[in-house]
Amino acid sequence: MIHQIELNGVNKFYGAYHALRNIDLQIRRGAFVALVGPSGCGKSTLLRSLAGLERISTGELLIAGERMNDVPPRKRDLAMVFQSYALYPHMTVEENLTYSLRVRGVNKAEARKAAAEVAATTGLSELLHRYPRELSGGQRQRVAMSRAIIRHPKAFLFDEPLSNLDASLRVHMRKEIRALHDKLGATSVYVTHDQIEAMTMADHVVVMRQGVIEQQGAPLDLYDRPVNKFVAGFIGSPAMNFIPAEVDADGRSLTLALETPQRIALSIARPPGEKLIAGLRPEHLEIVPSGEGQLQLRVGVVEMTGTNSYVASDGSPEIMILQSGRTIAKRGDVLSVAFSENHLNLFSAETGMRI
Ligand SMILES: Nc1ncnc2c1ncn2[C@@H]1O[C@H](COP(=O)(O)OP(=O)(O)O)[C@@H](O)[C@H]1O
Ligand SMILES: [Mg+2]
Repeated sequence: MIHQIELNGVNKFYGAYHALRNIDLQIRRGAFVALVGPSGCGKSTLLRSLAGLERISTGELLIAGERMNDVPPRKRDLAMVFQSYALYPHMTVEENLTYSLRVRGVNKAEARKAAAEVAATTGLSELLHRYPRELSGGQRQRVAMSRAIIRHPKAFLFDEPLSNLDASLRVHMRKEIRALHDKLGATSVYVTHDQIEAMTMADHVVVMRQGVIEQQGAPLDLYDRPVNKFVAGFIGSPAMNFIPAEVDADGRSLTLALETPQRIALSIARPPGEKLIAGLRPEHLEIVPSGEGQLQLRVGVVEMTGTNSYVASDGSPEIMILQSGRTIAKRGDVLSVAFSENHLNLFSAETGMRI
């Protein structure tokens, strides 16, 4: 199968700084792929390398099966949609849309026809004669997308396109972008530092850290089986609780280093004395009648939004419990807390890798 985009062993150096490390990534035609990770991990560098705005140092980049390492940006047939909308302020929406066609020598009538078609797809038909300053943030974002669409690119590249928008518009626009992707049968690569955005929009999520792909896969696979502590802590909100732990002498139980150490059974045998990190998601902890849970926790801060309750334990490490609806837990209570064993994630304390 020929992938729409393929990177094999790609490295990028800025001088001595190793910004991308051995990146292997295959993006099938029609996929919506999110690149996610903390600021500075190399997301934009990777996207700009696809676009040809950065030159990769080693490795190979293929687009639709053709080697692109040395092909200039305009010949790669990819469209970049930026965070700052980068619209021409002195041009109307229609002129913004037709500009890239006009500079390629498309005649005015044809360019206008193309603009009208794209505007109908993106819901801009009524706004073609407005200037960018006369548009809302969401509308400007749509113009930026339309300007990309009009060129029928091989793929759309998005670099945090929604980070300038307020929260409710962001939620709306992420649905709109995904719907547009589906409607166009496009291939999209979407950079974000927001794991919720990545999880909700993409069908394939690539988690990066310090220039390395830590894990990639379907959103819920990353949630269910993070390969290491970094991915486990990055995916999911509120974040997974981590508790230092040590395997007991019998090799069949674990002592958790909580405010008062607590012992839990292990379903697998581990070397006695092994140092581990136990990971439990807040939504997998349940407050149960006294004596019925595996953990005893004293309550610290309780927050209720109406939809959810966030119950944080007192002491260190703080353990967060997410309950839907309201809770009767209050500061100072000692709770019995249960979890199902298949929700217990274990990581090596030494390497951070999943066990
Ligand atoms: N032109 C450049 N020269 C030197 N270092 C750069 C350049 N561009 C980016 N970097 C560095 O590469 C790393 C990755 O940057 P970037 O890809 O922009 O991260 P992200 O988009 O994930 O926040 C950062 O440490 C950044 O400082
Ligand atoms: Mg960036």
